[in-house]
Amino acid sequence: MADTTVYRAGTTAPVNIAVVKYWGKRDAKLNLPTNSSISVTLSQADLRTLTTASCSTAFAEDSLTLNGEPSDISGARTQACFRELRARRAALEAANSSLPKLSAMPLKIVSENNFPTAAGLASSAAGFAALVQAIANLYALPDSPADLSLVARQGSGSACRSLFGGYVAWRMGKKADGSDSKADLVAEASHWPSMRALILVASAAKKGVSSTSGMQQTVATSGLFKERIERIVPDNMVAMEEAIHNRDFEKFAEVSMRDSNSFHACCADTYPPIFYMNDVSRAAIRAVESINTKAGKTVAAYTFDAGPNCVVYYLEENKDAVLGAFSETLGSTSGWKAGVGSSAGVLDETVAEI
Ligand code: DP6
Repeated sequence: MADTTVYRAGTTAPVNIAVVKYWGKRDAKLNLPTNSSISVTLSQADLRTLTTASCSTAFAEDSLTLNGEPSDISGARTQACFRELRARRAALEAANSSLPKLSAMPLKIVSENNFPTAAGLASSAAGFAALVQAIANLYALPDSPADLSLVARQGSGSACRSLFGGYVAWRMGKKADGSDSKADLVAEASHWPSMRALILVASAAKKGVSSTSGMQQTVATSGLFKERIERIVPDNMVAMEEAIHNRDFEKFAEVSMRDSNSFHACCADTYPPIFYMNDVSRAAIRAVESINTKAGKTVAAYTFDAGPNCVVYYLEENKDAVLGAFSETLGSTSGWKAGVGSSAGVLDETVAEI
């Protein structure tokens, strides 16, 4: 009788928010970036994707269900992840004939985000990281997180950084085949456990220009962008790694804010221009500036991805100054919500109205 066993494994993967931004591809097919980047992994207590991967000869075809809805898997990125992982499993099966031939079976992937869509957070990083890790678990692959980051990168660039907790770098690499464009650990979450993230939702609406298309337009048309990838980002990478190693919040904050500003300046310099921030985002920048002025030192840092929502990094010891100011300044503004993060790699925030 044919073996119709269902093989199954699961995982969760975290969201990460970059403090030195990835923006630009030098190879769109392999998803190779024009610059390195660094992010902080947020805790999975409230923000994570939970993914189960199964395979069986009883399944008709590969499928993916995302938050209860069937999702298209025909895209080149998902296909690249499936192909890479199957090839790795097939190599194990070729070396050991007693292993079941999972690589030849249709895959069924079921994925759920536990964070509300209203949190307005990009889910592709956690989503692809969880998809890759879940299939790697199912296939019992011996690959390290860095090896798997090579696969997740092909799903979504920022996903490669969600294979690690803590403070994570994605090294752009030099090779044309992308084999050196992967993530590595800058520091464990426990190295700087008082780091917190506050997520201010300016709009939960889906972003107008996707990261993928926005960054390609920037690469093609922005003159400022050249300066960013040749000088600004390399300098920011060095300064950010140093700030993390030394637990120097003022430096960490300055580099985060400057890098976010530089990225959004390149968006404005794209032709036609791309604006991700809105009036609420700019009010958040002013609020951070006023918190820092009042404190007499830098206790809060803002950063914005390809959307209007603000992530504010701060240290636990400054929580009253930071959270208090936000509820005062923005409490009456409708539509603001906050997720209060705990340590890097472990963000046990709840999304709450302030
Ligand atoms: C602004 O990883 O979503 O968040 O590789 O095309 O899927 P693709 O792009 P994506 O871009 C993220 C851009 C960013 C900065 C960052 O996370 O580093």
